[in-house]
Amino acid sequence: MMINKRVKKAVIPAAGLGTRFLPATKALPKEMLPIVDIPTIQYIIEEAVQSGIEEILVITNSNKHCMENHFDKSYELEERLMNSGKTKEVKMIDEIANLANIYYVRQKEPKGLGHAILCAKSFIGNEPFAILLGDDVVVNKESKPALKQLIDAYQGVGASVVGVQTVAENQVHKYGIVEPDKRHKTKDERLVKLSGMVEKPKAKEAPSNYAVLGRYVLTPEIFQLLETQEIGAGGEIQLTDAICRLLDTQAVYAYDFEGTRYDVGDKFGFIKATIDFALGREDLKDDVGAYIQQVAQSCKAATKEEKEV
Ligand code: UTP
Repeated sequence: MMINKRVKKAVIPAAGLGTRFLPATKALPKEMLPIVDIPTIQYIIEEAVQSGIEEILVITNSNKHCMENHFDKSYELEERLMNSGKTKEVKMIDEIANLANIYYVRQKEPKGLGHAILCAKSFIGNEPFAILLGDDVVVNKESKPALKQLIDAYQGVGASVVGVQTVAENQVHKYGIVEPDKRHKTKDERLVKLSGMVEKPKAKEAPSNYAVLGRYVLTPEIFQLLETQEIGAGGEIQLTDAICRLLDTQAVYAYDFEGTRYDVGDKFGFIKATIDFALGREDLKDDVGAYIQQVAQSCKAATKEEKEV
């Protein structure tokens, strides 16, 4: 089935407490933490734009000003840079201000991801829309951006599609895990129809190893369900629970998207992303590569010493 409704709008929830990154997140949303020199949310917005999204709503809390400022024009800074002949930098910061049409709305209390998405109801209206979480940064040099892969899958099936990737069994308790409908086969082996979804299951109760990783294309019917969604895991209104209820009235699919995904909401994931992104940069890769080798050698020497003692 081909459908005409284009996915033009996206929601980026950025109103979480970011407890795993305290104290950095005391006054700064975790989405503003930079991987090398670019805040995570900028990578996310670039992915949305490259996927054909035209309008973006960021759900914020009281720390929103730095995000608004980052994506706004900064005449004063541009003038100062211009006066000191830094034209390359002027171009760079000007491009950020022209990335997309970005709007902001405040989630008054951090009642959970489901509640944050409900704050986008009037912005979205009656259209299919995308959700991107800043926790998951996906790099895709070979194929389409992760969100574009989901949007294309949505265009094919005309139903909600959640982005998934396989995770190790000892990791399933950290994620929303999908339950594939085994009776239903699709032509694309990356696309599976769902019969259920469960938030953070124990390894032995997990219905699969497919974890939902921060990319969704949903139909607007989700909002009616979020309005009546009861508090779930962690005392929060969970998006996963509402998607589960959506399954009672509509088909929902999972798409196993291509790309290397970094869990930047987690400290180790964030450090890995920083190293890999630095190694991918012409201006940094030689110095960073040499430094990593030096660190690896001293770690090896320290382990040897420990063994000898
Ligand atoms: P997380 O649970 O990963 O974010 O929510 P968190 O609560 O900020 O992180 P920790 O666990 O305390 O470190 C996933 C996404 O949903 C947003 C977060 O900003 C993140 O992008 N979120 C979560 C909201 O916007 N509002 C909420 O009430 C909760």
